[in-house]
Amino acid sequence: MSDSIDLGAFPQDFAWGTATSAYQIEGAVKEDGRGPSIWDTFSHTPGKIDNGDTGDEACDHYHRWPEDISLMKQLGTNAYRMSIAWPRIVPDGSGPVNARGLDFYDKVIDGLLEAGITPSVTLYHWDLPQALQDRGGWTVRETAEHLAAYTSAVAERLGDRVTQWATLNEPLCSGWIGHLEGRMAPGLTDLTAAVRASYHLLLGHGLAAQAIRAAAPGAQIGLVTNHSTVVPASDGPEDIAAAVRMDGHTNRWWLDPVYGRGFPTDMRELYGVELPERPGDLDTIAAPLDWHGLNYYFPATVTNDAQGPVPFAREVRLPDVPRTGLDWQIDANGIESLLLRLTHDYGVQKLYVTENGSAFPDTVGPDGAVDDPERTAYLEQHLAACARAVRQGAPLAGYYAWSLLDNFEWAYGYDKRFGLVHVDYATQQRTVKTSGRRYADIVRSHRELHA
Ligand code: IFM
Repeated sequence: MSDSIDLGAFPQDFAWGTATSAYQIEGAVKEDGRGPSIWDTFSHTPGKIDNGDTGDEACDHYHRWPEDISLMKQLGTNAYRMSIAWPRIVPDGSGPVNARGLDFYDKVIDGLLEAGITPSVTLYHWDLPQALQDRGGWTVRETAEHLAAYTSAVAERLGDRVTQWATLNEPLCSGWIGHLEGRMAPGLTDLTAAVRASYHLLLGHGLAAQAIRAAAPGAQIGLVTNHSTVVPASDGPEDIAAAVRMDGHTNRWWLDPVYGRGFPTDMRELYGVELPERPGDLDTIAAPLDWHGLNYYFPATVTNDAQGPVPFAREVRLPDVPRTGLDWQIDANGIESLLLRLTHDYGVQKLYVTENGSAFPDTVGPDGAVDDPERTAYLEQHLAACARAVRQGAPLAGYYAWSLLDNFEWAYGYDKRFGLVHVDYATQQRTVKTSGRRYADIVRSHRELHA
């Protein structure tokens, strides 16, 4: 059973979108001067990715982008969130700009605009040029400065047509999963490196935002962060304290500095790593934004784990709760409360859900159709929760379903499918799933409501 969606809650000019990222869909990793990224290196390292999958071909979007724009039109969406591959634009991470890389995105942007679809462009969705990793990656300050230089090149070329910009996607994943847990590129397990990386990522965000403002006056600039609601597994003081630590690690560390509160003191003490701070940095990180993007997938219930890794809190697997094919707990109330927290606690004036979706093991029926009732229900439940948040005051301006296409799901490879559109990787055939058709119905109904 799915909740009904109060579509009247969403404003007339609501952005109905889908989202993707460059490395997950483009393929063509050696074409037109693209340099290697940390994800090329990581995915080609034996044992890092399920089935040994890589992004070498992915959805071949680099060549099939016109078809993919047609799919967006078929869904009736009016917005599309995409990322630019830094290694296509500045193959060595710093230094000469590769015009052919810019030419590709130029064509895609024009194609989107011709189709009546507003692009929302993310500058950094995890594909750091390998050359910069070789010089320290996010653990060194120069990487933040190089991000700004690359951003300038992109904004100067596309800023006459692109108005919606995000600096980073999910710095938590780059910082914590990439440098502390080692499950993502660059695959480090080093707390000092992780804390330094987290700092330079947020500094890079601030510098990139400045670069966009300088190159594209009138740009609407945001940051995209992923969050979970965090609740203690019991009423015991140790679990309650563990939940505070996990909330600091997952949520406050990535929001407090951006909203002018500095890095949370309790977490600084817990990490015990000196921040590579210079005068003025905190102002750069906290410069006002035009919007904030929330990526939401699952909630977290945590217990104290004194012997475990930082933040000494461990997620508890609740029995008898609905889960996706990635074993992620499904709880649509989480998106509602996070939207309200961003609104009321952090004072965000304009919000987007920049990602939300679910992976399930789809099967292609004998008639070629892909029926995905669980993903469809997830979509409906989360949109219903978004509408509830809007009714309580959340200034939600749009929703981007993750994802337009099945794609390279990082360490999980191609087995975990998030698309509203199925991709047969052997033939690159695209098939709109039931969830995609349901999304199209929802978008159409909302439009009719305001007609
Ligand atoms: O596929 C990812 C995406 O790249 C970032 N946010 C979460 C998605 C699902 O795991």
